[in-house]
Amino acid sequence: MTENPSLSNLLREERRFAPPADLAANANVTAEAYEQAKADRLGFWAEQARRLTWATEPTETLDWSNPPFAKWFADGKLNVAYNCVDRHVEAGHGDRVAIHFEGEPGDSKAITYAELKDEVSRAANALTEIGVEKGDRVAIYLPMIPEAVVAMLACARIGAAHSVVFGGFSADAIATRIEDASAKLVITADGGYRRGKPSALKPAVDEAVARVDGVDKVLVVRRTGQEVDWTEGRDIWWHEITQKQPAEHTPEAFDAEQPLFILYTSGTTGKPKGILHTSGGYLTQTAYTHHAVFDLKPESDVYWCTADIGWVTGHSYITYGPLANGATQVMYEGTPDTPHQGRFWEIVQKYGVTILYTAPTVIRMFMKWGDDIPAKFDLSSLRVLGSVGEPINPEAWIWYRKHIGADKCPVVDTWWQTETGSMMISPLPGVTEAKPGSAQRPLPGISATVVDDEANEVPDGGGGYLVLTEPWPSMLRTIWGDDQRFLDTYWSRFEGRYFAGDGAKKDEDGDIWLLGRVDDVMLVSGHNISTTEVESALVSHPSVAEAAVVGAADETTGQAIVAFVILRGSAAETADLVGDLRSHVSKALGPIAKPKRILPVAELPKTRSGKIMRRLLRDVAENRELGDVTTLTDSTVMDLIQTKLPSAA
Ligand code: WT7
Repeated sequence: MTENPSLSNLLREERRFAPPADLAANANVTAEAYEQAKADRLGFWAEQARRLTWATEPTETLDWSNPPFAKWFADGKLNVAYNCVDRHVEAGHGDRVAIHFEGEPGDSKAITYAELKDEVSRAANALTEIGVEKGDRVAIYLPMIPEAVVAMLACARIGAAHSVVFGGFSADAIATRIEDASAKLVITADGGYRRGKPSALKPAVDEAVARVDGVDKVLVVRRTGQEVDWTEGRDIWWHEITQKQPAEHTPEAFDAEQPLFILYTSGTTGKPKGILHTSGGYLTQTAYTHHAVFDLKPESDVYWCTADIGWVTGHSYITYGPLANGATQVMYEGTPDTPHQGRFWEIVQKYGVTILYTAPTVIRMFMKWGDDIPAKFDLSSLRVLGSVGEPINPEAWIWYRKHIGADKCPVVDTWWQTETGSMMISPLPGVTEAKPGSAQRPLPGISATVVDDEANEVPDGGGGYLVLTEPWPSMLRTIWGDDQRFLDTYWSRFEGRYFAGDGAKKDEDGDIWLLGRVDDVMLVSGHNISTTEVESALVSHPSVAEAAVVGAADETTGQAIVAFVILRGSAAETADLVGDLRSHVSKALGPIAKPKRILPVAELPKTRSGKIMRRLLRDVAENRELGDVTTLTDSTVMDLIQTKLPSAA
């Protein structure tokens, strides 16, 4: 990918935000960490591993004798669940709330570390009674309820690997994942609450389990109380089996490389990839990054990550990182607009949330709903705001800081992936002078850079592909059952380097700006133009709430830029406005980036994790029949968009 000189002012963002003085003065991590890690990267990680309690301290940090198959802390032994729960109780923090659960219908409950220890122990005993053993795989298909965390930790406690399947996925998706992982147990619920109604989960599990071999038992949490079909001898109520267990369970110490979980990522083509994460290195990096990037003070902070447990963000920053650090956190079951569009802010106010971690797509939705909604709530407890999942447009970043963070909270834009296991590139809230829209620098102990097609590192100001140049503790160990695919997907594009699949550029200070997946780069008249950059330019126009840009085949230019925009409430859809938007982009990015067509639409097609499905928009823009729409949150969105086409300029 070569940088087009006429686009060299892309994303020129002059605004800078220094860390608040009080936060900087008391920050968990200072600028010194970068120096220390640079001087001795492995020594730095060996020191971070001491945040954990090991049954056998590791003497070896990294075994890279068979790259890219890494072993971290290989001769160490630990129990992950003990680290997330028991040790906090032993340290005298048993009364500290681990989870403030907020159900969608408004039910709530606080679970202390002491209570969590009992729950996890009972569940571990129950799994053992059912016959789950070290090394087995357990599929988890649950709503956002505390039992999801308990189930994950119970697996970890007995050395079984969990594979959480997002509660919005179909029977098909569950079946493929159960099969690929050869799971012998599924943990599910009757249902969960979604948009004000109970939404069933068990029927999808029943259908999936009927189709695959090897699942002996299904544990069912009662959440909604709705009717369920029951298979005698296979189905067991969670409360019945766990309540009769003793609350004592002695955690066994496992090797640091014991598999902890498999999490499937869909990718653009082919069958889902089972990303394998292991124990010691994973927990070290999730705990360290949660401590460093959020500046977590476990005695006083109330942390809230709004992700679902079915995504890696929920694994690393609801279950493992925060609990390893003894944090108090909020867990919310439902959607942001049930029963009203201020629900998130009501929750922040109710629990005095100090650290909030959410996604750009959610932030843009709040922007669209209006500034007056968060303004009705007391958000003054907040002190650090995080973003993850896709590049955050500068306008959304600024809105987040201003309307949620009272124009004082640092915003940390954290770049990472299911595969990286933990955050990799992010500002540090007490150190970094923040730039809206940039993830900025690799965290201490992480090595990343941007290279061109020939694998040469680009100079400051250049653009290309993001690569990770050194192994890191929470890296994926392989793709479950498919080492070759692991090599081909991540390690074959650039020799000796991990290819993340993202386009990126370095600015004049060497800070990194993520430009989206490389599949989302358009080639217009021989110039590479990133969809993210054009989208950011569109969203910086006062009439645009959200934008999705695709390259559509074009006879003259190869690809032509087609933009789908959601207008803000007050903006009227006129020919003038469309003309205005085109010149706005042209002014911001140069005439080459001017969209050929701009189509105002009511909604954009998104996956359940909030990623825009550009593939479908490309189908529309190229007048093709739509491809697979099964992973869309709402498949009627595409019908609406297609009705827009005849009027397209
Ligand atoms: C892809 C990974 C990391 C947990 C959630 C997503 C994009 C993620 C950022 C960010 C720009 C980002 C990348 C990455 N992404 N965070 N802060 N800035 N892009 O996990 O589903 O594995 O997706 O999400 O394209 O490769 P995932």
